[in-house]
Amino acid sequence: MSGPETAAVSAELTTYTRWPITLVRGEGSTVWDASGRSYLDLYGGHAVAATGHCHPEIVRAIREQAGRLLFYSNVVALPVRAQAAEAIAAQAPAPLSKVFFVNSGTEANENAMRLARRATGRSDIVTFSGAFHGRTADAISASGLSKYRELGAPNVPGHRIVPFGDLDAARRAVDERVAGVLLEPIQSMAGVLTASPEYLLGLRRLCDERGAKLIYDEVQTGFGRTGTFFYAGRHGVVPDLVSLAKGIGSGVALGAVLIAEDIAAGVKPDEYGTTFGGGPLACAAAEATVRVIESEGLLGNVRRGSERLKAGLARLPGVREVRGEGFLLGVVLDRPGKPVREALLSRGFLVGGSDLPDVLRLLPPLVLRPEEIDRFLEATADVL
Ligand SMILES: Cc1ncc(COP(=O)(O)O)c(C=O)c1O
Repeated sequence: MSGPETAAVSAELTTYTRWPITLVRGEGSTVWDASGRSYLDLYGGHAVAATGHCHPEIVRAIREQAGRLLFYSNVVALPVRAQAAEAIAAQAPAPLSKVFFVNSGTEANENAMRLARRATGRSDIVTFSGAFHGRTADAISASGLSKYRELGAPNVPGHRIVPFGDLDAARRAVDERVAGVLLEPIQSMAGVLTASPEYLLGLRRLCDERGAKLIYDEVQTGFGRTGTFFYAGRHGVVPDLVSLAKGIGSGVALGAVLIAEDIAAGVKPDEYGTTFGGGPLACAAAEATVRVIESEGLLGNVRRGSERLKAGLARLPGVREVRGEGFLLGVVLDRPGKPVREALLSRGFLVGGSDLPDVLRLLPPLVLRPEEIDRFLEATADVL
């Protein structure tokens, strides 16, 4: 073989363990390989394809913006950046009111931790067993999964990792040196573990008592994935900072930190920044993503689809438990997940694995339709 595709493959550093497919096209919840074979995508390109692949509204917004102004940095105001920030902040509970655009989930977490440190004048960060927050220095040091934390060695000092779900352990860890408590309200990589309402409420109270900032990593749970726009606000708990990425641009690289009014008020010009964060193309995609989630009633689609998936999966032999919320689901099997994942792939269905060998993850686009769910359930029944 020769030509640009072969050259790209040979020069590219392979990072992830790859699935044995090469994709060239996507539409809605379906992707196609070069031979024209289709796959129903219950992985969403790593939880990214919020509005589905190549949603016409997103594609139109990006095309129009690309022809108008491809890029200018944060040294100037851009209407499209202001509109995207407005649209995102309008979905967030008070006092989360300011949006700082960056480029990825890990960068959002790095900046959320820095905002907490600078706002409190303290150094340490409390995170949890099972947590995954990204792969740059501070974020990987915050991981509660040792295999990732070790990849980031030497780690950034001042990270305290406590058992997820144990409020007493958090009480012992959060002292006058702790700037922030960072958690995924639903731990995804750990095998889809949901924090209880009491736990979230307890952490909120603990942070208030001890003067620390509560930070939600909503890189996965944000932008509608759990059936509400954000997890922030659920059970009456509002964090001080929220990190976002993944679905925010429906596939265009973008991250953001949602910031409470009082923290934002203390930020002075030139303390934070990034060249590409909040670029016009990504902001056009983000603004269109919020619009599509609203106009197409995707939060309702997620809630209904989730019930259908959960009920259908729970009936299957070999499924021990289905956990998680909305379209962030963990399917606990009575056997190793890898052969099941491979058999589903060979039948044209993409699902994810997790840190637990017996837990598969479903992170489909928010547009997944009932008939697609039924097709997936039928194939999974067959495979199991
Ligand atoms: C919960 C969570 N936080 C942070 C990240 C890091 O995001 P990114 O890969 O965009 O840096 C991820 C990525 O999988 C994630 O799942």
